[in-house]
Amino acid sequence: MGKDKLKRFKENISFKNLFQPELSFDSSSHELKESWQTEFCNKNPIILELGCGRGEYTTGLAKLFPSQNFIGIDIKGARLWKGAKTATENKLINVRFLRTKVDFIDKFFGPEEVDEIWLTFSDPQPKKPRKRLTSPLFINRYKTFLKKDGIIHLKTDSDLLYEYTLEQIKEQEFTIINNINDIYSSKTKYDHKLMDLLNIKTFYEEKWLKEAIKIKYISFRLNN
Ligand SMILES: C[S@@+](CC[C@H](N)C(=O)[O-])C[C@H]1O[C@@H](n2cnc3c(N)ncnc32)[C@H](O)[C@@H]1O
Repeated sequence: MGKDKLKRFKENISFKNLFQPELSFDSSSHELKESWQTEFCNKNPIILELGCGRGEYTTGLAKLFPSQNFIGIDIKGARLWKGAKTATENKLINVRFLRTKVDFIDKFFGPEEVDEIWLTFSDPQPKKPRKRLTSPLFINRYKTFLKKDGIIHLKTDSDLLYEYTLEQIKEQEFTIINNINDIYSSKTKYDHKLMDLLNIKTFYEEKWLKEAIKIKYISFRLNN
């Protein structure tokens, strides 16, 4: 393992905004479940970023919306280090990070505990549709903790994941709020609030933009 990674793992232990539960815990729920309001010391809405990497959306949205709480979730500690450090340096008291697999997400959140979910440049899993973060397997997990009128946001470079998600929305009769197939096209028009949300750029987004790949965005409700 590289020296930098080891240094980051060591510093991760000191961050008060980063939770790193045992990865091998059994099928029971984690003690953090249904305790996030206590953790944030308020009853503000809770928004998740799944597969957050360096947490650009988690910290970016937290700056835009100080009266909402944001939790970035990823399995990679060296990436989460960046988000936890940014949040600490910017004194973002409405940010937490959780190091776990998204596969265990329902062990960490209880009924109606979450208002919105962001999926930012998730792996399109070309050979394993079940593992896509908008597959029925994952959507059913989200249903256990997402509020009735909760929103899922997908921002992606992948045509495969974009089209697949649209198919899922149609098949399961979810409600589309926004569907933009090229957010940086001069022809695309949307309001200022949405523009602020979509202007946050992640590490992977910057990478795809350099390769002139179109960035797509869908937001939808599950009618849970
Ligand atoms: C393509 S990267 C995108 C990272 C970031 N959202 C961005 O846009 O820069 C996908 C991220 O999802 C994380 N990831 C993939 N599968 C995961 C899983 N099952 N549980 C937790 N994190 C996962 C990876 O560690 C990686 O950081």
